[in-house]
Amino acid sequence: MEILRCENLTKVYGKGDTCVKALDNVSFSVEAGEFVSIVGPSGSGKSTLLHILGGVDKPTGGKVWIGGTDIHALNEDRMAIFRRRQIGLIYQFYNLLPVLNVEENIVLPHLLDGRTLDRQRLTQVVKSMGLEERRYNFPEQLSGGQQQRVSIGRALYNHPAILLADEPTGNLDRRTGEEIIAMMKRANRELRQTQLLITHDERIALQADRMLWIEDGRILRDERIRVIGGAQQ
Ligand SMILES: Nc1ncnc2c1ncn2[C@@H]1O[C@H](COP(=O)(O)OP(=O)(O)OP(=O)(O)O)[C@@H](O)[C@H]1O
Ligand SMILES: [Mg+2]
Repeated sequence: MEILRCENLTKVYGKGDTCVKALDNVSFSVEAGEFVSIVGPSGSGKSTLLHILGGVDKPTGGKVWIGGTDIHALNEDRMAIFRRRQIGLIYQFYNLLPVLNVEENIVLPHLLDGRTLDRQRLTQVVKSMGLEERRYNFPEQLSGGQQQRVSIGRALYNHPAILLADEPTGNLDRRTGEEIIAMMKRANRELRQTQLLITHDERIALQADRMLWIEDGRILRDERIRVIGGAQQ
C-alpha cells in the first residue's frame, strides 16, 4: 500500500541571477512500512526534499500526497495538525526550543495537539536516548550529540506513521549512532513505521530496503536493496 507519493516536485530558491534550483522534477512513491535511505553530495537537495515531504517547506511546483492527502493544499492550521499526528521529523540541525528543557522539548508537539502526557512513554524515550541525567537541562547546556538525541526522541515519542530523518547520526559517535539506527529499525519492523533517512554513511544507507541517490536536485538512481520490512537486525 502506498503511503507517500510526490509528483514533479521542484524548489527554486531566490530570483534572477542568484536563483538556485534545489529540486528539479522529483517524483517517487513509498510503500507503507518501507525504509528508504537518501544519499547524495552536499547541496544536492536532500534536506530540501525532506522538508517538503514533511510539510515544513513549500514546493515551488509539484505535489505531495501522504495517505491520500494532498498536504500542500491544506491550510496552515490543518497542515500543522496533520504534521504533528502523522509525521516525525528529525532535523539536520536539531531545531530545539531553547527555553524548554529536554523533556518539554520531546513532548511539545504532542501537547500542542491537546493530548495528555504519557509519562511512561516519556520515561522510556528519555531512557532509550540515554538522557536520564539530562532530562531537566536546556539545549544550550547539552552537547551537539545530546541535542540530536533530544530531537530524535521528540520525533519518536508519539510513534508517527512516517519518520523523516535528516542525518540523525551525523553528530554522534559510532556506538550511539548504531544504537539510534537499531531503534529506528525496530520501529520500522515492529510498528511498520515508514522511514526516510538521509545519510552520508554508506554502511547505514545499505541497511535500508531501498536507496535513492540525489544529485543536482534530481533522482539519479532508485534501487531496491531488499524486500520491504526485511531490514537486517
Ligand atoms: N533557504 C535557502 N535559500 C537559498 N538557497 C538554499 C536555501 N536552502 C537551501 N538552499 C540551496 O539549495 C541547495 C540544496 O540544499 P539542501 O540543504 O537541500 O542540500 P543537502 O543535500 O541537504 O546538503 P547537505 O548534505 O550539505 O546537508 C543548495 O545549493 C543550497 O545552497
Ligand atoms: Mg542537508
